[in-house]
Amino acid sequence: MPTPQAGRLRPWLRLSLFTAAALTAVASSASPDTHVSNKQSFATDVVYQIVTDRFKDGDASNNPSGAAFSAGCTQLKLYCGGDWKGITQKISDGYLTGMGVTALWISQPVENISAVINYSGTNSTSYHGYWARDFKKPNAAFGSIADFQALVTAAHNAGIKVIIDFAPNHSSPADPANSAFAENGRLYNNGTLMASYSSDPSGLFHHNGGTTFSSLEDGIYRNLFDLADLNHNNASVDAYFRSAIQGWLDLGVDGLRVDAVKHMPFGWQKSWMAHIHGYKPVFTFGEWFLGVNEVDPANHAFANGSGMSLLDFQYAQRVRQVLRDGSKTMQDLHQTVVDTAGQYGQVIDQVTFVDNHDMDRFHQAGAPQRKLEQALAITLTSRGVPAIYYGSEQYMTGNGDPNNRAMMSGFGTGTTAYQAIKKLAALRKSNAALAYGTQQERWLSPDVYIYERKFGTQVVLVAVNRSASTATTISGLMTALPAGSYSDVLGGLLGGGAMSVGSSGAVPNFVLGAGAVAVWQAAPPITSPTLGHVGPMMGKPGNVLTLDGRGFGATKGSVFFGSTAVTGASILSWEDTQIKVTVPSIAAGRYAVKVRNASAVDSNAYAGYQLLSGPQVTVRFIVTNATTALGENVYLTGDKFELSNWSTSTPVGPAFNQVVTSYPNWYYDVSVPASTTLQFKFIKKNGSAVTWEGGANHSFTTPATGTATVTVPWQP
Ligand code: NOJ
Ligand code: NOJ
Ligand code: CA
Ligand code: CA
Repeated sequence: MPTPQAGRLRPWLRLSLFTAAALTAVASSASPDTHVSNKQSFATDVVYQIVTDRFKDGDASNNPSGAAFSAGCTQLKLYCGGDWKGITQKISDGYLTGMGVTALWISQPVENISAVINYSGTNSTSYHGYWARDFKKPNAAFGSIADFQALVTAAHNAGIKVIIDFAPNHSSPADPANSAFAENGRLYNNGTLMASYSSDPSGLFHHNGGTTFSSLEDGIYRNLFDLADLNHNNASVDAYFRSAIQGWLDLGVDGLRVDAVKHMPFGWQKSWMAHIHGYKPVFTFGEWFLGVNEVDPANHAFANGSGMSLLDFQYAQRVRQVLRDGSKTMQDLHQTVVDTAGQYGQVIDQVTFVDNHDMDRFHQAGAPQRKLEQALAITLTSRGVPAIYYGSEQYMTGNGDPNNRAMMSGFGTGTTAYQAIKKLAALRKSNAALAYGTQQERWLSPDVYIYERKFGTQVVLVAVNRSASTATTISGLMTALPAGSYSDVLGGLLGGGAMSVGSSGAVPNFVLGAGAVAVWQAAPPITSPTLGHVGPMMGKPGNVLTLDGRGFGATKGSVFFGSTAVTGASILSWEDTQIKVTVPSIAAGRYAVKVRNASAVDSNAYAGYQLLSGPQVTVRFIVTNATTALGENVYLTGDKFELSNWSTSTPVGPAFNQVVTSYPNWYYDVSVPASTTLQFKFIKKNGSAVTWEGGANHSFTTPATGTATVTVPWQP
């Protein structure tokens, strides 16, 4: 195995997050821009996804040496030198701000293994950041903690938020049969070895073999590929990740992208998110990969219940089919817009994209550039938080990993894509309809989609003709735009032109050119209270909740959780476009949130806020000897909101019975209130037919911290 020590020889760079507290205080107080401090609503932002190693080498001295490094980045599974200083340079020289980017999603920043692994003849390294060794230290190839802080400070000063990738599902590759393979999955706690995959006396890892992806359960409790899978039901692992994420939040991180959320226990993730939202709440979105045409109710349930959003693969795959591959129509795209608006409780919080480091790049060699430009324009004018993969603006190509992760090809600012992103990013800021509005179809054919987004009195109308050869006469178009004439926000960059609107919103016939995108808009001030966003959508009494919208006025009014008014000192700040409140101490449950202004005018209600009972811990509930008939599943229900308040229509589960325990013994990991006595029972369900356990309720008192397991026999 070549140079397993490469990259380890710079002890002065291997600082800990936990020795940098003083620097942190300076960095986080340096942000002058109040918008940048909004860590909840990213819907007005444009995210730019950077594979840190592949963007810009700003410091050759931190580059790994020997077999781990590829000078000139000709070997795409080796380190290529990109680092935090390089990203900072591209903030300072205006490349990123000039494109209108307001958030960066960077690779997982934590210390990774330095082994070079030979997979079927190809040397591979942790350049991507997903092979962690110590979640409390920085990846030395990306820079020092000081470099990371300099990046955060430069970003904040430029009006840019920083999102880190984070992958608590696993440490690094391990071979159960060979402890000498790579770094044996070794996990360190700020420099102290916790366990390796082959020497794991306290059970920090799962030892259940590799997943075949046959079921959710199989994917959660077995190894993803060869990655040493962490056991989040272990109290040390739980405590480790609660504290590790605090270290990064303390460095001023504004958002999190959580890797592989389909592969970690949902109950643990919810309790971890409750911890984050009680510490420093930040916008968090998970990666739950969906293939082409895949629609998964479990994915929607996760987005609606876990306290984090998701990357919107359902929408991304559809946009690619319609605009890249031509295998679906604009009518299919509209149907996906309608479907997802119903499936996701907060569709505006899901993160939209057209490609990423796990997909073929959208642009293909030889394909018309306009296809990508249309896809970017649709993404930037859609509901959701748009994320643009680095190099899209340079028309980079590349199918599959690692060809989709090549070194950034150049930093020219003159491309059509760069200019289109710049114009539409500005529109996301100036017109609230894009971020917070609702969407309506105004004209639809297999090739043409004209859609309108509207929030209060603010309106954006977008027209896209994907046909490269046929112009379409648009007749009978109606819009909510006021009468008048409108110029194309893109200034004709993608072939659009001016449009006029008559009285009652009728648009005289016009021709939408082949391949054209046009964007028209009106953004009169919104003067009555209009609520656009509430975040985070899960929390507990005492947490800080941020409300964004327009027209709240300058004078403090009140905020309602259902029928409970929050007033006075519990309103922490009140501006025309943003309110911060302390979450009240009322019964746990789902609440609609609304604003009442100082003149007693109410806003729209924003449904679905999930108020938890209090601080959360993860408990594994096991029931033994629960035999079931074909079609029956076992669920959990009980006397707390977190246990569904004795619901049989939406109980917790279905429980699992294959990996950790085997049928007829079932288990499920659940986020429940800490230091609380729970009453619970298991039920068997087949459709709406329910069989309750007999006898008295089971009772269990949860710990104040850590994790627990409670095992009960099925009571016939
Ligand atoms: C999903 C990431 O996006 C992918 O690139 C990575 O290899 C796996 N998760 C494992 O971390
Ligand atoms: C709900 C009750 O509150 C609970 O105590 C009981 O065990 C179940 N219903 C079954 O009757
Ligand atoms: Ca470097
Ligand atoms: Ca796992």
